[in-house]
Amino acid sequence: MYRYDDRDRAILNDRVAQFRGQTQRYLAGELSEEQFLVLRLQNGLYIQRLAPMLRIAVPYGLLNSTQLRRLARISRDYDKGYAHFTTRQNLQFNWPHLEDVPDILAELAEVEMHAVQTSGNCIRNTTSDPFAGIAPDEIADPRPYCELIRQWSSFHPEFAFLPRKFKIAVSGSQQDRAAIRVHDIGVQITKRDSDLGFQILVGGGQGRTPVIAETIRDFLPEADLLPYLEAIVRVYNRLGRRDNKYKARIKILVKALGPEEFGRRVEEEWQQGKDGAEKLTPQALQWARSFFTAPAYKTFDGSASEAALQQQAEGDRAFARWLERNTYCHRVAGYRAIKLSTKPTGVPPGDVTDRQLDAIADLADAFSFGEARVTHDQNVVLADVEQGRLYALWQQARQHGFATPNIGTLTDMICCPGGDYCSLANAKSIPVAEAIQRRFDDMDYLYDLGDLNLNISGCMNACGHHHVGHIGILGVDKKGQEFYQIQLGGSAANDASLARVLGPSFSRAEVPEVIGKILDLYVQQRRTAESFLDTYKRIGLQPFKESVYAKAG
Ligand code: HEM
Ligand code: SF4
Repeated sequence: MYRYDDRDRAILNDRVAQFRGQTQRYLAGELSEEQFLVLRLQNGLYIQRLAPMLRIAVPYGLLNSTQLRRLARISRDYDKGYAHFTTRQNLQFNWPHLEDVPDILAELAEVEMHAVQTSGNCIRNTTSDPFAGIAPDEIADPRPYCELIRQWSSFHPEFAFLPRKFKIAVSGSQQDRAAIRVHDIGVQITKRDSDLGFQILVGGGQGRTPVIAETIRDFLPEADLLPYLEAIVRVYNRLGRRDNKYKARIKILVKALGPEEFGRRVEEEWQQGKDGAEKLTPQALQWARSFFTAPAYKTFDGSASEAALQQQAEGDRAFARWLERNTYCHRVAGYRAIKLSTKPTGVPPGDVTDRQLDAIADLADAFSFGEARVTHDQNVVLADVEQGRLYALWQQARQHGFATPNIGTLTDMICCPGGDYCSLANAKSIPVAEAIQRRFDDMDYLYDLGDLNLNISGCMNACGHHHVGHIGILGVDKKGQEFYQIQLGGSAANDASLARVLGPSFSRAEVPEVIGKILDLYVQQRRTAESFLDTYKRIGLQPFKESVYAKAG
């Protein structure tokens, strides 16, 4: 994990002091609403439906236990005792008081955290694979590159006022777990012969105009990462539309120019700054890597600890289920990564209480070298757990409500805050999530359905990733009433695709029933071991449409 140096600390403390003065002047009536708006957005502070909302950056999702405990304390002392993990590996507080925000930021700065560039038209938090550094299918650890991108993009004077917000995701594995194809820039670590480099994708995104990113370079040498990213953002900064907010993202520019022409312009720009100050030297790369060295793993006989684990699983069915669904292979023998589920029935996906944040910190200290990671599906990963201690970890996780064995199933859904908090919402999304969780609470049924992503957004901004859900639900407003459109067939993984709309929308009460019909048809139609997405791809939208609307009529 990257640790701040004196310079980093000084920058943050200056920013906190600055914002304290700005907030005081606003509260004293010396700054207008409009003047304060830009200042607060530079510090992650939105004004929402019911209260301000503060978004805090969690670079590439990594948190240490000290930070987790501090977040717990902030949620207890300044908020309503809980916080929300987002799909971009950030954390949000939904109920801070405006006058407390400078104190919150000061508390965060003490543990090397901040809210800088978590809103506004700048380069946002760079996201990555929650299994970085431990995934068996990893080509190289993406975190050092994320950290280099973070340092390059934070406070970058040229990119403080881009046409729109800008999001970068980096994947270091063969399996994309960072949704790089729906980001403004997706960086895929790759190898040519034995040289490390990057495949660069540009122009993906969700929202009003969902687009899957296009590759503009198959192989970029490692040293050229930052100059090349700088060239992309520079071309976008210059040519991206500023006259229309809805056409301002880079995806619109890439579409308008075509990926070849866009790529050509980037290459041209890159040639000018290619060997400039941003070029990564072996020393710079070494320095970045030094923050992400492997922890002090013990040596185990992998097969012996695997056998012991199997024995425990045979003796306890609930543990076996959890082991099956919520744990992941590790590249080091005798270790596993685990996911803590934030999604038991009745809890808004991604919400964690102050006590749970403290509990994650305790679990991280006790079982995983003091670190935890936020995932893009709003869960939490403990990356380095000894197999022999999984049973003990599971028991403790269960006490804190984190051991629902539903990871990757229908009820492990992504869901935006929707109309309960968000001022942009057309409809509520949390009650929809809850109704679906209640209706499909039978684990055997969920396991029989297999891997299934259900994603819910309360409006077309798509914070809940409905476009890339195998099943997507979008809240729409019809003459002041809340309705829900169902979409099928999206994916945010390597085979990224955008979901297609099933047909006319439904009332909230109808949604669980409609999902039930979609699942029934899948179960009828699937071939052995065929996933929902594969069945959909094989049979298409029409049979689902017929089944849902025929019976609904
Ligand atoms: C309640 C406060 C929130 C506000 C005001 C807000 C606002 C927005 C807006 C305006 C967009 C559309 C951007 C565009 O046009 O491209 C958007 C997209 C998005 N938001 Fe939020 N959002 C909020 C909460 C969240 C939360 C809680 C999450 C995570 C669960 C989230 C994650 C995202 C993501 C992933 C996108 C996708 C858009 C893209 O990158 O193309 N947001 N949000
Ligand atoms: S999708 Fe819409 S309703 Fe949901 S959080 Fe984003 S902006 Fe708000």
